[in-house]
Amino acid sequence: MSSSLATVEIKVNGVIQPRVVEPRTTLVDFLREHLGLTGTHVGCEHGICGACSVLLEGDPVRSCCMFAVQADGLSVTTVEGLAPQRGCLSRIQDAFCETHALQCGYCTPGMLVACHALVDRTPHPDEAQIRDAIGGNLCRCTGYQQIVDAVKLATSPGYEVRGNSEAQGLPPGHTGIPGVANG
Ligand code: FES
Ligand code: FES
Repeated sequence: MSSSLATVEIKVNGVIQPRVVEPRTTLVDFLREHLGLTGTHVGCEHGICGACSVLLEGDPVRSCCMFAVQADGLSVTTVEGLAPQRGCLSRIQDAFCETHALQCGYCTPGMLVACHALVDRTPHPDEAQIRDAIGGNLCRCTGYQQIVDAVKLATSPGYEVRGNSEAQGLPPGHTGIPGVANG
């Protein structure tokens, strides 16, 4: 093997993924191009927008700002791994739909990652905590309030996911949102 290549084993969404990469391969390129996980978006590519956010060992990181080799041996969760299973939505994903917390959707994977990281640590965040958690993610469309509302809704007592295909008798992979398939 060429000395200019490196072998990595990164656990992505619960599955160990061994791959040979160039040392300069960013984590976001590894996810999108080597694994086909295109849910993680590329925006600014220099750490400003947050569209490329993923969880690394449970903490949100900018995947455009680190190399795949830096994640060797570590665990990564992408937006595709946030839902409990294929065809289902997480509470936060479902609440995003309910409060119209996305328009173009470009920021949404990063926003969801940031919100999941928050709720993992703070199950019932107040508005200030929510705004602080998404403060590193840019959205050009929503004005942010609907995103804050989504997290409040998802963490409110008794909130039940409504968008699961199973619950609605829809085919597996359907989100329950007209025209939107899940995965
Ligand atoms: S694409 Fe990584 S922070 Fe913008
Ligand atoms: S929904 Fe368009 S950038 Fe956030």
